[in-house]
Amino acid sequence: MDINREQWGSKIGFVLAAAGSAVGLGNIWKFPYLVGENGGAAFVLLYLLCVVLVGLPVVIAEILIGRTTQKNPVGSFRELSKGNPFWMFIGGLGVLTGFLILSYYNVIAGWSLGYVVESLKGSFQNLENPAAAGELFNQLSSRPQWTLLFHGMFMMLTVSIIYAGVAKGIERASKIMMPALLILIIILVIRGITLNGASAGIHYLLKVDFSVITGKTFFLALGQAFFSLSLGMGALLTYGSYMSKKDSIPISALNIVLLDTLIALLAGFMIFPAVFAMGMQPAQGPSLIFNILPIVFNSIPAGYIFRIIFFILLTVAALTSTISLLEVITAFVVDEFQFERKKAAIVLGIIVFVIGIPSALSFCGWQNVMIFGLTCFDFVDFISANIFLPLGGIFIALFVGWFWGTKNSVPHLLEGTVKFPVFLVSTWSILIRFVAPVLILLIFLSSIGIL
Ligand code: PFF
Repeated sequence: MDINREQWGSKIGFVLAAAGSAVGLGNIWKFPYLVGENGGAAFVLLYLLCVVLVGLPVVIAEILIGRTTQKNPVGSFRELSKGNPFWMFIGGLGVLTGFLILSYYNVIAGWSLGYVVESLKGSFQNLENPAAAGELFNQLSSRPQWTLLFHGMFMMLTVSIIYAGVAKGIERASKIMMPALLILIIILVIRGITLNGASAGIHYLLKVDFSVITGKTFFLALGQAFFSLSLGMGALLTYGSYMSKKDSIPISALNIVLLDTLIALLAGFMIFPAVFAMGMQPAQGPSLIFNILPIVFNSIPAGYIFRIIFFILLTVAALTSTISLLEVITAFVVDEFQFERKKAAIVLGIIVFVIGIPSALSFCGWQNVMIFGLTCFDFVDFISANIFLPLGGIFIALFVGWFWGTKNSVPHLLEGTVKFPVFLVSTWSILIRFVAPVLILLIFLSSIGIL
């Protein structure tokens, strides 16, 4: 073991940092619009099923690999597979996926930062309907200076936290930001559900209509569970590598999954009651929060302040995710090439910023630059989120379940856990060996159009 390797300063520090990675634009921006487009409560129910059957077992597996080896994704697979090149390639795929996801995710994160500034400037005060908000959104995102400025600023924020290190940077930031996030969401939920006419939104989120469930809904829910929990690319593996062997993996994993799910559900309760109270339609697509919320805030007392709070919240949620993405590649470069951490953070931040430029320009000038019929943004999103994540997830499950094997991995899993019931260990073994790989394979095949 590397005695110089950093560790989390506390157990709660690890859980908050990992939950911070999981909670992000996926929960607050994407989950609500998927719910809105796919039948409300029915989608929520399927999502929960996927989180339990695939999410939790793979979260445990990823943290387990990282905590056992105390290494980055490539180093971890090298150690546990005794240098098998195939498994090292799988670790490398995770690092590459981190690069790609960060490059476009940071663009959207930049928009949320830009919206904090626009909210402060009062740009949304006189807009009367979602169409006007949509127009403003198009105007802003189609200006390259605006998009690139906030893309760059957000990357600088991310780099500065990684620069400060594991305990001082990521952990300290998450300890402040995660509770703040939860409090801000709760304030907005209370605001939303006390609006006149909000009950229709609550009903929409609670009343399951099975007739709207199709195969596609199931796969969308499974894919969302995957992305939302930061699975399949070694983010949780890397965070797990800084975890003490005295702490319990199953209990930490359960807390991370519960927090991520809670925040996605709260985001639903934050948005839909307000949508219905405003007499608007839930199926707005990806522009849901950008078109609806600025207007919703105009109709409530102190809307100016609530709007600023909301976009700060979105920025904070995105930041705790971008730092986990940058940490995966930084840990790789620091461990494998003995790069100094601070230097690595800056150099990698610049590289990711540059790789992200075509994605940023996909909304402002490069709309017609196509790769396989997709804009640069959609292409990078598709190959990383729809192909590499599920692929990585399958191999993580197969690796822990079969190659390393549950017989060898369970003793490491139980380190730091006092009196863990045997039936829970067997349930996890079945989920990781059979259920998770088969279900992930199904999402994978559907996302590339084979199913
Ligand atoms: N889980 C993040 C979200 O829901 O926004 C996105 C993400 C972060 C995916 C980190 C993958 C990852 F490694």
